[in-house]
Amino acid sequence: MNRPAFAETNVTFTPEQLIMLEDAVSGLSSTPKTLPSKYFYDEEGSRIFDEITELPEYYPTRTEAEIMTESGQEIADALGEKVLLIEYGSGSSIKTRILLDRLCNMSAYVPVDISGDYLQQTAAKLRSDYPHIRISPVVADFTQPFPLPSSAEPAGRPVTYFPGSTIGNFTKGEATRILKQMASVCGLTGGVLIGVDLLKSRDVLLSAYNDSQGVTARFNLNLLHRLNRELGADFAVDQFRHEAVFNEEESRIEMHLISTKSQVVCINDTLIRFDQDETILTEYSHKYTLDSFAALAAAAGLETRCVWTDSDSLFSVQYLVPSG
Ligand code: AVJ
Repeated sequence: MNRPAFAETNVTFTPEQLIMLEDAVSGLSSTPKTLPSKYFYDEEGSRIFDEITELPEYYPTRTEAEIMTESGQEIADALGEKVLLIEYGSGSSIKTRILLDRLCNMSAYVPVDISGDYLQQTAAKLRSDYPHIRISPVVADFTQPFPLPSSAEPAGRPVTYFPGSTIGNFTKGEATRILKQMASVCGLTGGVLIGVDLLKSRDVLLSAYNDSQGVTARFNLNLLHRLNRELGADFAVDQFRHEAVFNEEESRIEMHLISTKSQVVCINDTLIRFDQDETILTEYSHKYTLDSFAALAAAAGLETRCVWTDSDSLFSVQYLVPSG
């Protein structure tokens, strides 16, 4: 029987894996080679990320949590009453509980996440802990436009919540697009509550992304393990090493996986050639000043209403509203 070549491979992929395959092959075929950072977070990657958040060198998570705890009431007051809170990439919604505990007469909470199973589990827990708040989860990739559930509609003021400085993973162009999308969701009366990591000394930044226990290295290398596991790729993972550098010009950390020898890797019939010391760029983590972030927000039609930071100005939580 005559079949097209692609039907002869014996690996079957889910639709999500097919997209990951396309993304991986196209990223690894470009110059310089890249892989999208959103693929870090399979089960193993999410577990390693939790370990990162506990590292002494990795300040962002604990600092943001500290800001939310210390300034939670002020933040809730700034957001006001009857909020329809829409969280982008909600995960376990832990930081959100600080807001759910304090917001008055909330209209609904809409956690948006790409991982459906996890989202349903989180929603079930929230429903039992917050029986008075309508919880309307949406399974979606928040980098793409998505419809709000009709059950969330009974008019509240839409406030989008984007914690964790995930905005830093995007280029300025992508970040502007995401902020514009949030501005369109929040309309004229809502707002955007967002966690933004701040520019600081190069040494502090480099140690946060090249920690002494090698946890960030494991996190980065897990991306190659994942391609092996899910796409049947044949990366010799021990022939790659992790390195994070700080690009001063662009004010961002850049995470790389560096091939320690010249080698060829096969992903689903595509051969990818590596020179010795050739790198795969796996993640950007942009660091903003209050001014540089205000400029980004302005390009998306938003202005800074309030900023909360920690005592060392390591991290910020910002409330943006449509520019008047
Ligand atoms: C979860 C995207 C905020 O950029 O600091 C941590 C991910 N990468 N260590 C970040 C990450 C390496 C993290 N974000």
